Amino acid sequence: MALKKKVGYKCRVAGVVFLLLAGIAALVTVAVIQNTLKSQEYGLEYGIVIDSGSSRSNVFLYDWPGEKENETGVVTETINCKVEGIAISGMKVNPQLDAETWKGFESCINKIKGIIPAEKYRTTPLFLGATAGMRLLHQRDEQKSNEIMESLREYLSSLPFNFQNASIITGQEEGMYGWITVNYLMGNFLEKNLWNNYVHPHGSKTVGSMDLGGASTQIAFQVEESGNGLDYLKVKLYGYHYTVYTHSFLCYGKNEADKRILDKIVQGSSNQYPIRNPCYPKGYNTTMVASEIYDSECTNKPKNYSPNQNLFMVGDPDSRKCGEIVKSIFDFKTCSSSQCSFDGVEQPPVTGDFKAYAGFFYLASALLLNGTSDLDQFNASVENFCNTHWTVLKEQKPWIKDKHLRTYCYSTQYALTLLADGYKFDKETWKNIHFEKSIKGTHIGWSLGYMLSLSNMIPSEVKEIPPLTNAVFAGLIFLFSALIIVTAVLVFIILVRMCY
Ligand SMILES: *[C@@H]1O[C@H](CO)[C@@H](O)[C@H](O)[C@H]1NC(C)=O
Ligand SMILES: *[C@@H]1O[C@H](CO)[C@@H](O)[C@H](O)[C@H]1NC(C)=O
Ligand SMILES: *[C@@H]1O[C@H](CO)[C@@H](O)[C@H](O)[C@H]1NC(C)=O
Ligand SMILES: *[C@@H]1O[C@H](CO)[C@@H](O)[C@H](O)[C@H]1NC(C)=O
Repeated sequence: MALKKKVGYKCRVAGVVFLLLAGIAALVTVAVIQNTLKSQEYGLEYGIVIDSGSSRSNVFLYDWPGEKENETGVVTETINCKVEGIAISGMKVNPQLDAETWKGFESCINKIKGIIPAEKYRTTPLFLGATAGMRLLHQRDEQKSNEIMESLREYLSSLPFNFQNASIITGQEEGMYGWITVNYLMGNFLEKNLWNNYVHPHGSKTVGSMDLGGASTQIAFQVEESGNGLDYLKVKLYGYHYTVYTHSFLCYGKNEADKRILDKIVQGSSNQYPIRNPCYPKGYNTTMVASEIYDSECTNKPKNYSPNQNLFMVGDPDSRKCGEIVKSIFDFKTCSSSQCSFDGVEQPPVTGDFKAYAGFFYLASALLLNGTSDLDQFNASVENFCNTHWTVLKEQKPWIKDKHLRTYCYSTQYALTLLADGYKFDKETWKNIHFEKSIKGTHIGWSLGYMLSLSNMIPSEVKEIPPLTNAVFAGLIFLFSALIIVTAVLVFIILVRMCY
């Protein structure tokens, strides 16, 4: 009887409080479990970008975890599919070659269809961007370039994906999107703070970007202040302003530069036959037809030009002479501003680290100098390469195809001239150049930056207080439930002591 009285009013209140706490703890636990399960259910989202360059097209498939698309550095490359056949700028000339290229597209698209779950096709954005090869064709024959783009749009919109657009992008866009790709992949735009939120990295620097394509080359880097002209672009990414200097040089891509160098050699041979080529290795002779050099917007056809004329060239290496020929395709004299790269183009001094990718990476690799190097070391390697006999080169570098290997003496010389005499990298700043083709397994190029920008995955603003991420949310809930459980246990103990 006495016991029952003791268990009276206070104990009942305590009991109710205890049950309440236990109930909350149970609910919260269920919520945490649900939340964890849910975040595993999101699956991947996909995006497709077709990069139609001057030598061929590549189809890139990117993926990222669902609902996290706007966080930094989470979009990665799933596959990169090379389209077999000719570049799109060569289409509409020979139906048979066109057929091969369409088949090439088809086979890449089929590969992608096998990767993306069918229910995601409709929501997967698809873009096509064409670069310098089409810019050149557009200059020469606007109608043909429009026809090619139109037939590509027709084909791409017949696919089950969410086709966005197919267009020729400008050199500046190409430079800018390359810069965005590099800095996005490196996580330079946003970083995680202590609370697992994404914030602007304080004092963090962006990295410059140098792309060497087949028909054009681009440089882009962040500068403190804007200069004169159209090469200074202002962008706002995640609420932060950047001024980016970017310039694209048409006809300075690797293949077009090669043609311009060969043209100088042919012109300089003053009809001597065979043509002695100071930029070809000893032991390498070749016959090319004139159209290989002159069927281009970047070279001037000589007088009495006949496309099928045979040009017999004999390798007679002389790296000094070759260096002079390479320099002669640049104009280092004209400059109307206080500082220029070349061809009268204003350029502020290069600052900070740079990623040099695409053609730059392959040239540096041929010299076994990918990653970082020394200017003198690079120069010496070029010289060494040019003085190596063809048969030795072939033994040393069996992974390089003949048609590339024969060009590498002058192409590496070209890269050296472009970077050192053109962009003005010196002994000190050369060390900041990183010759790389990918970052964290994702190919460096304009295509990722293009997709991120066009699908607004890099917003120009971020919320002042970024929303909690799933991980933080789950962590906080776990902490709360732990607290509640501990309190419940304490109340239970007090209850037992008080009541019995
Ligand atoms: C597609 O690209 C063209 C050329 O850049 C542009 O004029 C057009 O507005 C774009 N269309 C869409 C739907 O974005
Ligand atoms: C290349 O041509 C030169 C001059 O015609 C000749 O002496 C040499 O034997 C040739 N070399 C090869 C590998 O064909
Ligand atoms: C490369 O070395 C040669 C001498 O071997 C020199 O004349 C030239 O200026 C050097 N080039 C650069 C860019 O340093
Ligand atoms: C991410 O995107 C969503 C909408 O798509 C937006 O509400 C949110 O603010 C974005 N978060 C960040 C960090 O940009």
